[in-house]
Amino acid sequence: MRTPLPRPLAELPVRRLTLGDLIACADLCEDRRWPRDEHRWGLLLTAGTGYGMDDPEGKGLMAACVVTSYGPQLAAIGMLLVAERYARQGVARHLMRHVIDEAAGTPLSLYATPAGQPLYEQLGFAVVGRVERVNGFFRPTDDRASAVTARPATAEDLQAMVRLDTAVFGSDRTHVLARLPGYADHLRVAEDDGKLVGYAATWPSAHTHVVGPLIARDTATAQALVSSLAGATDLPLRADIDARHTEMLDWFKKCGLQAGSETTVMAYGTSDLPGDWTRRYAPLTVATG
Ligand SMILES: CC(C)(COP(=O)(O)OP(=O)(O)OC[C@H]1O[C@@H](n2cnc3c(N)ncnc32)[C@H](O)[C@@H]1OP(=O)(O)O)[C@@H](O)C(=O)NCCC(=O)NCCS
Repeated sequence: MRTPLPRPLAELPVRRLTLGDLIACADLCEDRRWPRDEHRWGLLLTAGTGYGMDDPEGKGLMAACVVTSYGPQLAAIGMLLVAERYARQGVARHLMRHVIDEAAGTPLSLYATPAGQPLYEQLGFAVVGRVERVNGFFRPTDDRASAVTARPATAEDLQAMVRLDTAVFGSDRTHVLARLPGYADHLRVAEDDGKLVGYAATWPSAHTHVVGPLIARDTATAQALVSSLAGATDLPLRADIDARHTEMLDWFKKCGLQAGSETTVMAYGTSDLPGDWTRRYAPLTVATG
């Protein structure tokens, strides 16, 4: 049942979220039938900045979203959620306007669900791409022997990973990648002739291992990384793959994964995302880019 707002939106404050809000954020996900993903909220609320609005009736949060900053070039918005009982009263629009104001001209990006896209369009975001979700149990195909070897990452790989990532992502995201070994269940690097040519991770979400980030020189390298990661888990895999990587998507399907929902990539204040999409196969999470 819908709960009317007790006061005009302008009188309901937006505040910064902290790790103390993690359970309330997970409750908001559950309210919208999203996985609670407390693990993911832990990353987002420490590497990024959470914004929220308290439920005027004192029942946790009415709305939340997270902004991960990557310097003056880009900030990624994710996890925009409004409790169902407060839907369609302008709460998301109000929170997004606040976030856009706070960004003070920094270009913004996000992955929009069909429910979110009309709002983002009204706010001035434009479509710049598309990702296709694949999920299911991975069955290896023995197509080809790759020249690339994938192996578990070690602490010594972090610097090279950050260097590669900065070129591919287009901004330095050391503050996020430094948290990756603690966040991911499995982390792999791909090497060719001793040179790091890709890296990828899987992290847990609702009895699934999510592949991301997936950064690779080419599709064969991306496949070697995913095969290595899949060998380390008995859980189904999920990945949000840039729809331009059709060969990779076809391969996932050959390996037993099914096509899932599509998400639109949108940007504000820039006509395209920085970096090199040809080497960027999957984001770390759709909330962080
Ligand atoms: C998407 C979501 C955040 C919108 O929250 P909200 O507070 O209900 O949105 P608002 O009332 O501010 O809506 C602003 C406008 O967005 C559009 N909109 C909102 N919800 C929509 C929906 N479910 N379907 C289509 N358009 C929608 C409408 O144009 C709306 O204006 P109107 O009500 O005057 O027609 C909310 O539905 C939600 O939490 N959904 C689940 C999580 C999700 O998909 N988040 C988006 C991630 S990208």
